[in-house]
Amino acid sequence: MNIHVVVLAAGKGTRMKSAQSKVLHRVAGQPMIEHVLATAAALAPESTTVVVGHQADACMAALDGASGLKFVVQEPQLGTAHALLTTESALRGRIGTLILLSGDVPLLSAKTLHDLVGRHTSAHAAATVLTAVVDAPQGYGRIVRGSAESGEQIARIVEEKDASSAERQIREINSGIYAFSLDGLFDAVRSIAAENAQNEYYLPDLVQIYRRQGRVVETVTVSNPDEIRGINSRIELAAVSRIVREQKNTELMAAGVTIEDPATAYIDRGVTIGADTIVHPGVSLEGRTTIGAGCEIHSGARIVNSRIGDRVQVFNHCVITDAQIADDVNVGPFAHMRNQADVRAHARVGNFVELKKTILGAGSKAMHLAYLGDAVIGEKVNIGAGTITCNYDGVNKNTTVIEDGAFVGSDSQLIAPVTIGSGAYVGSGTTIRENVPPGALAISAGKQRNIDGWVEKKSKVRSKK
Ligand code: UD1
Ligand code: CA
Repeated sequence: MNIHVVVLAAGKGTRMKSAQSKVLHRVAGQPMIEHVLATAAALAPESTTVVVGHQADACMAALDGASGLKFVVQEPQLGTAHALLTTESALRGRIGTLILLSGDVPLLSAKTLHDLVGRHTSAHAAATVLTAVVDAPQGYGRIVRGSAESGEQIARIVEEKDASSAERQIREINSGIYAFSLDGLFDAVRSIAAENAQNEYYLPDLVQIYRRQGRVVETVTVSNPDEIRGINSRIELAAVSRIVREQKNTELMAAGVTIEDPATAYIDRGVTIGADTIVHPGVSLEGRTTIGAGCEIHSGARIVNSRIGDRVQVFNHCVITDAQIADDVNVGPFAHMRNQADVRAHARVGNFVELKKTILGAGSKAMHLAYLGDAVIGEKVNIGAGTITCNYDGVNKNTTVIEDGAFVGSDSQLIAPVTIGSGAYVGSGTTIRENVPPGALAISAGKQRNIDGWVEKKSKVRSKK
């Protein structure tokens, strides 16, 4: 089918009032241009070219991972027609259909894109414009159609700033998304002039040029105008994010997930959740997080790029990033698991416990106030309150190994590298500097001494002063 996609993303986005490129601002957790590229990929295009300009280096760096993208730099940015012209050499010799997308219109669906390509192809059109009929057309280019006798065909597009007051009443708007036949396209775009209120080269002017030449210009009108909402301000950014989240929440609920308050569930598009999991109010589930079935995620939890098994309880205010939690585990409240923390089945992690690069083996428990970093902890181990793995000696991070069935008493410091053998006991308040053999008890505190009558003597001394 010879489809070539071009995404315009060079504009400054003045109304965002930002030092960062507009298209890198996140919509529901993901840079808005990534939403656009994901949708474009559904067309399986032969090529995808992104026009960058403002903050070009940052844009290219941010999209570095996306495979097969070509970039062209538009400098200076003289308007949307000028932006398309900069892709001419990248597309030289190509035939077929060019699909032009805007980096700031992230809600477009793959179905609508397919409809656009379908209509464009079947009509043998030179250009097909995606339009929408909206209640508030302010800020958009308006679609001016010919008389009823002429079949009300599209005649031209007029920008808000150039429109007469009658034209401003028109509620059919230009989405900024088009299909173009590559045949003769760049020659026609080159003939566009910048004689308008903004002194910019307007791509929508191509409609009138083609109509005068007698070439076919078609339109496709989206049934859901939300799809073509452009983001120009932070207010629109928030509104579009809310729409993406609503869609995601609706999909999850339809698939059997309970979301107690969809208005405060912040679930990114890439997250998966199993049936019968309950998400409480005020929860953030981000990135490539997967959550199994029958879990309960309580308020204030934030889970990023993590894998959570089935029947897991995440109590209030846990922060879980880049971690893995197996089936039937309870964590929190107020637990922090990060950087390859790996909590195995039936384990328990309680309040104010931090796990970093640590395996907590099946059925093991760390219920209160502990730091477990760079540790390999076996099965059915008990970690007492206030236990700290002293993993950092100022130069290196060292490993603590705690074997199956060991019992670490409260307020112990384990100075790594060190191993606590299987079934061994560490007495409360012990500083462990050497390995503890399996089955042994380690204690480091001296014998306790009680001084009888100390309090009374002390108070007599004080009263003499
Ligand atoms: C544009 C359309 C308008 C349409 C609206 C839909 C024009 C002149 N107007 O207006 O009819 O209703 O989109 O959202 O095209 N860009 C560049 N280089 C430039 C200028 C813009 O790459 O020199 C990019 C921007 O980064 C953005 C897109 O093109 O991604 C649209 O530009 P923007 O300035 O936002 O156009 P609008 O005023 O919204
Ligand atoms: Ca725009």
